[in-house]
Amino acid sequence: MQMRKMAGALLLALVTMVMAVSTTVSTAVRAQDFGDTPYVQTPQNVVDAMLDTAKVTGKDYVIDLGSGDGRMVITAAKKRGARGFGVDLDKRLVKLANDNARKAGVAERAKFYARDLFETDMSPATVITIYLLPEVNLMARSRLLALKPGTRIVSHDYGIGDWTPDIEYEMDAPGKPVGRSQKSKVLYWVVPDIVAGRWSWTMDSAGKRQTVELLLQQNYQKLQATAKLDGRAVAVERATLTGRTVDVTLQLPERGRVLFSGRRSNQALDGEMRTDGKGAAVRWSAARTELLDAAHVIAPPPVIREYGITQ
Ligand SMILES: C[S@@+](CC[C@H](N)C(=O)[O-])C[C@H]1O[C@@H](n2cnc3c(N)ncnc32)[C@H](O)[C@@H]1O
Repeated sequence: MQMRKMAGALLLALVTMVMAVSTTVSTAVRAQDFGDTPYVQTPQNVVDAMLDTAKVTGKDYVIDLGSGDGRMVITAAKKRGARGFGVDLDKRLVKLANDNARKAGVAERAKFYARDLFETDMSPATVITIYLLPEVNLMARSRLLALKPGTRIVSHDYGIGDWTPDIEYEMDAPGKPVGRSQKSKVLYWVVPDIVAGRWSWTMDSAGKRQTVELLLQQNYQKLQATAKLDGRAVAVERATLTGRTVDVTLQLPERGRVLFSGRRSNQALDGEMRTDGKGAAVRWSAARTELLDAAHVIAPPPVIREYGITQ
């Protein structure tokens, strides 16, 4: 009886071990394939269009994640006077990119490192460029959203999960090494600040001191706004967020359309307000009286179904 119990326990242990080993093996195989973006060059006219879209200038610091032969950062340095670096897992491509930078005479301003993009400090970037598989973009999303508000991101062909781009267009891509259409997509985002919450300010209107309360709900850079003037609802015509800058247009009973534009710093929005069609802008300041989370911050991370991996 005792023997039979032990044999049963051993068999159970053996089955458990075999299951554990096979799970490890299949996970390892999947992990190896996962996010393996192959090397494909962005055609030069698309590189130029991407840098144009991000309005890259000599003030910018450009980081290319998966830099291939270095064309993105080299073009940014040579044609626009920017600085920056690229990272790639492939050491031969890193050497080629550094050689290309030297040949282009921009080796001081365009450098390339053999490094995993997920282990790269992206904080110096004012512009990030990517041409990576959609699942890799998705895995990088939380890191991209954590960059300084206002950092511009421009991607070749692929989106970043459900983060809607600010600009998206298709263009001819003659000589593109993949796809039959010889077309490319360019997608562009600006990293949004978190401005969700209740904001309040006072203003003089027809000799009266009035209080405006603005409630901002946020998902990525998209704002949903409602407003009250002395407790009564007023129409919000427009509410946008670009980096740290909030622009709101309210329709106020005695003034008509009023535009408020401010930059967030701590719990204040500082900027100016202007009554549409009437005179100069005057200083405007609002205080956040209640903090809310932005929807994209509290949403559960996406599951990448094909691989069953959570971001
Ligand atoms: C589609 S190519 C783009 C090359 C270049 N950026 C361009 O647009 O011409 C993607 C590059 O990303 C590199 N790559 C893939 N995964 C990476 C990772 N985790 N870290 C760094 N580089 C990676 C690949 O070796 C490849 O060179």
